[in-house]
Amino acid sequence: MASDSLGGTSSPLSHDREDSLEHGLKLLGDTWQGLDSARPDQPPVSVITRELLEEPLPARGVGVSQALDEANHVLNESIAQSRPRYFGYVGSSGLESAVLADALASSHDVNLAAESEAALLAERQTLRWMGEFISFPATDGAFTSGGMLSNLTALMAARTRALPEARISGLEGMRPTVYASAEAHASVERAAEVLGIGRGNVRAVPIDSDRRMRVDALRDLIEADVDDGMHPVAVVATAGTTLTGAVDPIGRVAGVCSDFGVWLHVDGAYGLPAASTQRARHLFVGLELADSVSLDAHKWMFIPKACGVLLVRHPGSLLAAFRHDSTYMIEEDGYSHPVETTLEYSRPFRSLKLWTALRSHGADAFRDAITYNLELAAVLADRVRAHPRLELLVPQPQLSTVPFRYVPVDTSIDVNALNMKLARRMQADGRVYVTSATVDGRACLRPCIVNFRTTESDIDVLVDTAVEWGTRLESGG
Ligand SMILES: Cc1ncc(COP(=O)(O)O)c(C=O)c1O
Repeated sequence: MASDSLGGTSSPLSHDREDSLEHGLKLLGDTWQGLDSARPDQPPVSVITRELLEEPLPARGVGVSQALDEANHVLNESIAQSRPRYFGYVGSSGLESAVLADALASSHDVNLAAESEAALLAERQTLRWMGEFISFPATDGAFTSGGMLSNLTALMAARTRALPEARISGLEGMRPTVYASAEAHASVERAAEVLGIGRGNVRAVPIDSDRRMRVDALRDLIEADVDDGMHPVAVVATAGTTLTGAVDPIGRVAGVCSDFGVWLHVDGAYGLPAASTQRARHLFVGLELADSVSLDAHKWMFIPKACGVLLVRHPGSLLAAFRHDSTYMIEEDGYSHPVETTLEYSRPFRSLKLWTALRSHGADAFRDAITYNLELAAVLADRVRAHPRLELLVPQPQLSTVPFRYVPVDTSIDVNALNMKLARRMQADGRVYVTSATVDGRACLRPCIVNFRTTESDIDVLVDTAVEWGTRLESGG
């Protein structure tokens, strides 16, 4: 910066960029190499890191290279979902091409709320590509921070269609209801709370033996509510439940929605990318009939967080739900700022990382990687079935979640307590990271495979570690 009338010659935030970049790239390269294979264990948070993370606000900096080294220590002592043996919750992978695009996007720091020229075109193109990828006829959509915000956005669009005046006068006397399977993600209830519908008005539709929404029960519930003067706003079908990966029968649910004129949203935060594969496509029959669908590219599209995708079928439905006039964002000649179709105002260029990844590798590479995860889940299910001490808690994994538990020989042992302990012991052991869950009150391990780095040998280690610790715990270890 040239000297100015205030005497400034350089920004207080300037630094040796070449040095910083070289150092940052080295750390990034080492990180990628380190993620390729599993670590022998998860290192605990060291004393040095704890002390660092208790330091007060620094008045003077340590320099970019040292700060990056410190950040790298923090990351190395954190639980990283990108590692090949991370099987917890619904993970992600930090795909390298997308990481680089994200760094570029952050540097330009485009705001997708207002005019952004090419960035908006790229966002729209990526929405079209995702519609194509999962065979959903999207006319509009939005990138969000993830499944929670996608569900909230979709339910706001549904509420606006069912009860347009609610945006102005609130919901008093309107008695809205929402329907979702008993195993839908808690974000559906949270969205209903935020939208004033109320969690008590989210009907938990019973599930069948494959843990899918029972369509007969859905019909009965809606009928009873309509008779009772309630106002059904939306049905949320789950395409890949978080607990077991069950996919609700979307086409038949759509039939009920159509009979009652109710909005159908498909929450595919976890499972919807599998609709792109030959192997799992049959599970998603009728997807094109939904009013809106969502998926998280930061789950099974391997992109770093956060990259939620919401697609809607009807043009104008997001605009109807979110449009405001303001004197500081003038719109002329029919132009609408992108912010008029989203819940968020300032919005990062989230789509660029997905766009870059799709351009880099092509859609087929993603289909293949997802298919491989599905195959690994089938292998895991086979290994579990074949082991006398392991029990699979679903008839067959529909997607890539394989809940199973250790069953001790000694029938007097509390199986639930043992399996909760098993998950904790395996996490402390560090060879694999797996979380616990309960299926019909039965505690279990709930591995979910959504990582392009995971291979069959990682599945072997998961099974071996579960059996090893299960046996030790059974014998009092
Ligand atoms: C089915 C489903 N819906 C919604 C969510 C919430 O997604 P996010 O954490 O991206 O907000 C999840 C998270 O795992 C999920 O599995």
